[in-house]
Amino acid sequence: MKKLIVANWKCNPTTLNQAKKLFNSIKKGLGVVKNTKVIICPPFVYLEELAKFKRTIILGAQDCYFQEKGAFTGEISAAMLKDLGCDYVILGHSERRKYFSETNVLINKKLKSALEKGLKPILCIDSTSQIKQCLKGILKEKVIIAYEPIWAIGTGKVPSPAQAKSFNVKIKKLVTNNTIVLYGGSVNAENVEGFIAKSGFNGVLVGGASLKPKEFINIVKVVDRT
Ligand code: PGA
Repeated sequence: MKKLIVANWKCNPTTLNQAKKLFNSIKKGLGVVKNTKVIICPPFVYLEELAKFKRTIILGAQDCYFQEKGAFTGEISAAMLKDLGCDYVILGHSERRKYFSETNVLINKKLKSALEKGLKPILCIDSTSQIKQCLKGILKEKVIIAYEPIWAIGTGKVPSPAQAKSFNVKIKKLVTNNTIVLYGGSVNAENVEGFIAKSGFNGVLVGGASLKPKEFINIVKVVDRT
C-alpha cells in the first residue's frame, strides 16, 4: 500500500501567484516519488487553477458542505469539488471544530456526502471517542483517519513514537486493519520517519511544514524511502 502525505495549507498563502509558486516548487522538487501519494489541500479558491498543473500531485480540499446545492450561502459542496478535479477532502479538522463549531453529527453528514460524490474523505480526530459518531452508517475502510492531538498542532511538540503507536493501534481496532491511518501535528523532516517506521502510520498530514517547499520535499523523500 502506498503511503500518503497530505499537505494542509490551511488559510495560506494570500495570493494566487504565491499559491502557484508554492505548488510548482513542490512539484519540481519532488521528482519521482515511487511509494508515496502526495495530496495538496489548498484553499478552495486556488483549486481550479492548481488542477491545471496537477499530474503527479493529487488535489484535496479542506472542507465541504453536506448538501449538493441550494440556498446555503457561502458553502461549497462535494459535487463542486469533484467537478473541479479534487479527489480528497479533509473533514472535521480540529480548527473547524474549534472556530466553526463543527460537531461529530455535522462531520458525519459531510463524510457521507463526500463519499457519495466520489471524494476520498480524510477524517481528523484528536480522540478515539470521536470515531463512532463520525463514522455512524459509513463503511469504515472508505474513510482515511488522521490522528492529530490538538496539543501537537502548530506547537512543535509531538508524541513519542510509542505514544503515537498506541493511538494507532487503538484506532485500527475501532475501524479496520485496512483503514488508512495518518498522523498529524508538528510533522517535519526530522520526526516523520518515527511516525512511519516506529509508530506504524500509513502516512502523515502536514500543516506548517507544507508551506516550506524544501522542508516538505524532504518529508516526502524520507517517507518515500521509509
Ligand atoms: P501542523 O498542522 O503540521 O502545523 O502542526 C497540522 C494540521 O493542523 O493539520
